[in-house]
Amino acid sequence: METLDGISTGRIDRLFAGIEAFVDPAFDGWTRTVFSPSYRAERSWMTEEFILAGLEGVRVDDFGNIVGILPGRYSDAKPIVIGSHTDTVERGGRFDGIVGVLGALEVAQRIKESGSVLNRPLMVIDFFGEEANPFGLTCLGSRALAGSLTVTDLERVSPEGKRLGDAMQSFGLDPSRAVSGKHPAQGSWHAYLELHIEQSSTLDQTGCNIGVVSAIAGIKRLVGRYMGQYDHAGGARMKTRKDALLAAASSALALHEFACGSPEYAVATTTHIDSLQLAQNVVPGRSELRAELRSTDSAWFGAIEKDLALRLSMRAAEFGCELDVEWFLDNEITHTDATLQETIAAASTSLGLTWTAVPSGATHDSVHMTGIAPMGMIFIPSIDGRSHCPEEFTPKKRHTQRHCGTRKKRPSGR
Ligand code: GLV
Ligand code: MN
Ligand code: MN
Ligand code: MN
Repeated sequence: METLDGISTGRIDRLFAGIEAFVDPAFDGWTRTVFSPSYRAERSWMTEEFILAGLEGVRVDDFGNIVGILPGRYSDAKPIVIGSHTDTVERGGRFDGIVGVLGALEVAQRIKESGSVLNRPLMVIDFFGEEANPFGLTCLGSRALAGSLTVTDLERVSPEGKRLGDAMQSFGLDPSRAVSGKHPAQGSWHAYLELHIEQSSTLDQTGCNIGVVSAIAGIKRLVGRYMGQYDHAGGARMKTRKDALLAAASSALALHEFACGSPEYAVATTTHIDSLQLAQNVVPGRSELRAELRSTDSAWFGAIEKDLALRLSMRAAEFGCELDVEWFLDNEITHTDATLQETIAAASTSLGLTWTAVPSGATHDSVHMTGIAPMGMIFIPSIDGRSHCPEEFTPKKRHTQRHCGTRKKRPSGR
């Protein structure tokens, strides 16, 4: 029997093997995107696993989240809430989000088996649809639970022309309840804690066991629509063209250079450029670009739209095109609770684990929980920092410390 620090890992291994059966064979990796048949099947299985783990009152709430409770000594005490998500991106990995949900089930069972009873209820959540979807919105279930999924969000349309509200309805959710359901009030939970893989390389490179998350990057997304001129690919002379695809490609480079020039952590990623046509003998007269930018630097983040307006329209003009940009805020920069940072650091030290404070470039359900409770996040290493790919990996055995010299460093506050 394999053990980790003397504790059997069999139960966790069984859960990982179980969830890995629910994948979409059309893609490499462990693909289980929101709204897919594999996700639907996994959610039924997961609901059963919540019950098997001994949680009580297991249910799927109005927002699509699976919820269960380990009762505490005082049933009216505010709960401690732990969890994450089990959907993945296309060609995703086995750990992103999943570690937090399977870990939460293990925590509940360990507490129960130990015979101790917490003063407070422990609530476990598997949030619905955390990953960015074709509607360009992350964290559907946690956003809805926090009361910030809007009627306007339901009208978001995927590149295939489907409404988010319709996708939710087809999945068995009632979109009108998702935007008007009963939301926990600010302060109604004692704390929200999420365990997650780092998805970056600080812990792996330094050999630290634990990342105490200090801040989570804000995300802004944009859709750029370029208007040029359709023309004959053989006849139109190079100097007279208004090629909308080249204007979009040049803008993608401008976005890249903009983030490279930032003094602090900032990233920009163009994920789609589409000429909206199939013919290979037509100069593209229209195109669409989709991109996102993230940062934990509030000055840089706050000025993105203003700073990019001129740069992007100049790139369009170089190719004789006009540009219309639509911006979406996915989430603001979010800070974790200073007391929870201290608590995670102290718990790590008492378990003989090294830790360091890290920011998160990935977004998380935890961002949306800050309106309900003090929020903290615990990161574990990702080998080579890889994530959102099949190679994503976190070993069960802890790192042997290489140069994690920050045991004494305090996590950063706001
Ligand atoms: C989800 O993983 C995100 O960070 O977009
Ligand atoms: Mn995740
Ligand atoms: Mn993810
Ligand atoms: Mn994420």
